[in-house]
Amino acid sequence: MLITDFHSHILPGVDHGSDSVETSVKQLSLMHSFGTEVAVATSHYYPTESISVSEYIRLRDAAAGKLLDAVADKNRPRIILASEVLVCPGLENLPDLEKLLISGTDYMLLELPDVSWNGMIFQTLKALGKMGIRVIFAHIDRYPPELVKDILIITKFKAQLNPGAFSSRSVHRRYSGYIDDGTVVALGSDLHMAKKGSYKKFASISAKYRDDFECVMRRTEKIIAGANML
Ligand SMILES: [Fe+2]
Repeated sequence: MLITDFHSHILPGVDHGSDSVETSVKQLSLMHSFGTEVAVATSHYYPTESISVSEYIRLRDAAAGKLLDAVADKNRPRIILASEVLVCPGLENLPDLEKLLISGTDYMLLELPDVSWNGMIFQTLKALGKMGIRVIFAHIDRYPPELVKDILIITKFKAQLNPGAFSSRSVHRRYSGYIDDGTVVALGSDLHMAKKGSYKKFASISAKYRDDFECVMRRTEKIIAGANML
């Protein structure tokens, strides 16, 4: 079983996750020290900002290149390039949208907006599904549970959890059904900067909820191999 951190902001200068190559190297060594074998690098992409997808990808890949030059392979997890894409109405029409997929897969990590999940968002999600994009919602534990329930029932898409979903027995109970029924296919630290304390929360999921952790990690392994889990 591979240990995969499916949500991390570790590429220097691409978003607010890392301010330098040095910080990113520290992030990778933190991940490595806690046993993470694969890191999905999910830098933010905001369609509402003026940068095009192709320009964002150029910057992202250049940042990844600088980082990989600075750290020995044996001291870091394997890195898979991806993006955390904010959903907005009309996202399906964005030129080069497919470049935002998780590398080597048809999956895309989508961040839901904090407010206003209106009909247009649902239209966009439906359109993405029709285009063959396999959506994984980022950190569903960050949103109102009733809204999450609705969106998962309507879309039947998959989801990723942050450590917050495991912060207490009662919070865990809220999400354990989504682990049991196969909705949750990934766990992520959502690491920003090299904060040991926050990474420890991700790493400690395996000790507190071993069965859930291993079950989800096995699903993630299939996702990054490109298998259809929808
Ligand atoms: Fe994130």
